[in-house]
Amino acid sequence: MTRAPVGARVRALKPSETLALSARARELRAAGVKVVSFAAGEPDFDTPAFIQEAAIDAVRAGHHRYTEVGGTAALREAIARKLERDQGVRYEPKQIVVGNGAKHAIWNALFTVLEPGDEVLCPAPYWVSFPEMVRLAGGVPVAVAPSPGDYKVAPEDLERAATPRTRMIILNSPNNPSGMVYGPDEVRAIVAFATQHDLLILSDEIYEQLVYGEARHTSPASLGDDAKARTILVNGVSKTWAMTGWRIGYAAAAPEIAKGMERLQGQMTSNAASISQQAALAALSGDQAPAESMRRRFAARRERIAEAVSALPGVRLRAPDGAFYVFPDFSEAIARAGGRFRDSAGLCDYLINEANVVCVPGSAFGMEGHLRLSYAIADEEITEGVARIGAALARL
Ligand SMILES: Cc1ncc(COP(=O)(O)O)c(C=O)c1O
Repeated sequence: MTRAPVGARVRALKPSETLALSARARELRAAGVKVVSFAAGEPDFDTPAFIQEAAIDAVRAGHHRYTEVGGTAALREAIARKLERDQGVRYEPKQIVVGNGAKHAIWNALFTVLEPGDEVLCPAPYWVSFPEMVRLAGGVPVAVAPSPGDYKVAPEDLERAATPRTRMIILNSPNNPSGMVYGPDEVRAIVAFATQHDLLILSDEIYEQLVYGEARHTSPASLGDDAKARTILVNGVSKTWAMTGWRIGYAAAAPEIAKGMERLQGQMTSNAASISQQAALAALSGDQAPAESMRRRFAARRERIAEAVSALPGVRLRAPDGAFYVFPDFSEAIARAGGRFRDSAGLCDYLINEANVVCVPGSAFGMEGHLRLSYAIADEEITEGVARIGAALARL
């Protein structure tokens, strides 16, 4: 065969570093190594029992066929009620498109609105998939760094990156990987910037319910009619409800955009799995206590990991307000490595080899010098893993 078996679009695609590192942890474990993996991007809890039951009931009740492309009427109505209850934003059910996870909803959004060459501002640190998805959709991702030492971008940072080709900004709050939550004034400032440049806002709110202490989530869509019209709100049940494997996420948007997303999905995947839709319906309309109980468990782990990581010599941590990640700055440790490694990826390799601890390098998220540690793991593992990191750093 003389032609490349894989086309240029996929050849250019970076594999997901977070998925690759989780796979590495699994391999080491299978080989009998006692690994502590901070690479997980998902809750370690089981899906609550009442949701499991709803899925089993759905199988028995005959939910076996295609549904409407954008999701069943009952699920879209439940999502509309949830958005009104939690975000204070009213959507008609037909403005909501249910897909196979929030990731799919983001794909739908990008493919629906971007023209070739449109620039998309991706504030760093950003979720690994944003730039790759933008590129595949024909857009140009533009990373925007916050001020040094900061983890949230301000309008001045965005202003420097804006050009006449800028079409969209992706806001992800609570943020993966930093755990930062944009406060109401910060979101308002970003909306004002978007309005001034006539941009769309893709608001990835998948960690919306995982906020701690005084922090509260603010959706840009909640800040008035114009803000709502230019926001594509993405959320799902994966993280809040420990339902990553069920693959249900959704986008809510202005009617024309929602219609476009539904048309696209109709030619790509059709509806999300019928049984999973029934399970998501139970999650959104049933007892919210199990979600709150998981949130509290994460809150306690956040305290534990923040305290342990902050005590590591030369490591700086801005305590996060949301999601289930910490994103400490290891620049000093990297500088101390004396050429053994030079960057966050090198530090990650060092920690895997020297301490059997798996983290994700900041470079994957567009911010060197840092590592992402997920605390969606057991308390003892958090303590053990951070102690191992401390011992490995002391040997540098
Ligand atoms: C910021 C962000 N958005 C979206 C997703 C994907 O969510 P889902 O599993 O619902 O596709 C993730 C998962 O890691 C994420 O971290």
